[in-house]
Amino acid sequence: MLDDVIGWRDGRIVAIDQTALPHRLALLDIATVDELVDAIVRLAVRGAPLLGVAGALGVALAARQADREGWDAGRLNAEVERIAGARPTAVNLRREVLAVAAVLTDGAAATEAAALAVRDAAIETSRRLSERGAAFLIEECGAGPLTVHTHCNTGALACLGWGSALGVIRTLRDRGALAHVIADETRPLLQGSRLTAWELGQLGIEHYLVADGAGPFLISQGQADAVVVGADRVAANGDVANKIGTYSLALAARRAGIPFLVSAPESTIDEATATGADIPLELRADEEVTSFGGVRTAPEGSRALNYAFDVTPADLITAIITEDRVIRP
Ligand code: MRU
Repeated sequence: MLDDVIGWRDGRIVAIDQTALPHRLALLDIATVDELVDAIVRLAVRGAPLLGVAGALGVALAARQADREGWDAGRLNAEVERIAGARPTAVNLRREVLAVAAVLTDGAAATEAAALAVRDAAIETSRRLSERGAAFLIEECGAGPLTVHTHCNTGALACLGWGSALGVIRTLRDRGALAHVIADETRPLLQGSRLTAWELGQLGIEHYLVADGAGPFLISQGQADAVVVGADRVAANGDVANKIGTYSLALAARRAGIPFLVSAPESTIDEATATGADIPLELRADEEVTSFGGVRTAPEGSRALNYAFDVTPADLITAIITEDRVIRP
């Protein structure tokens, strides 16, 4: 079923609704740009590489809607821009939207083919970077079996195929080099406990969930051999934006003297963004922090600072692994 994370059927996008997991495996049937933008904004479709694929298919979707509703070129461009701007931090979204939008003038068939090529490439890429990352860790830490600490969700749900950080973990398991995984629950939207734990369960990988605040302490106690995370954007200088809570793991890993690995496709590297300070960080609604499961938990009047991502400076990163290379910032 993880093969069905996102697809293209009869001119519509079909995608797993990630807000329903782990309780229900439900599919979204997306026919309009409004529906796609809504799915992206509420994180029903999420994770940097998957956002790239969703954006690519979104351009094909917009072209179909333009035909149906008689949009002129200006309206079509505006709708394509709305998809590209639905979330600001993961560079994959805008990158793939622009790549597919460049072939819009070649017609619907060419646009759909370009979008599906982005999807196929994501699957192939995830496999290659998973293997490179696992080989790197075995070289750094020995064949273990290793305990790996991870954050957020970086598996097939976020990337297609094998995933990025979770793909490295899966490859370690297949090579007999994995003891177990420690996964942060990933506040406030619980991508770790809802999605990563679900994927690890599907794969039969032993795992323990921990509260985000526990992660750095557990690392200090020698409970992980390495930290492996994904990325939403890598700046030209090697600074990495990823889910809020990543930075504290990098600090803890440095203090404990264990590797801190970032696993991400080349398409997440943004040479046009000089440093982490230039990466736009998404600030989400207060209610994600002041409420839990729709019930207000903070006093009325309390505000939240709900940054969805943080930036880990390059000097705390042991290596960034892509499908093509190992970058040691
Ligand atoms: O807000 P999300 O759930 O889209 O955030 C996802 C992450 O931060 C992932 O770690 C990142 O996209 C890398 S996935 C390969």
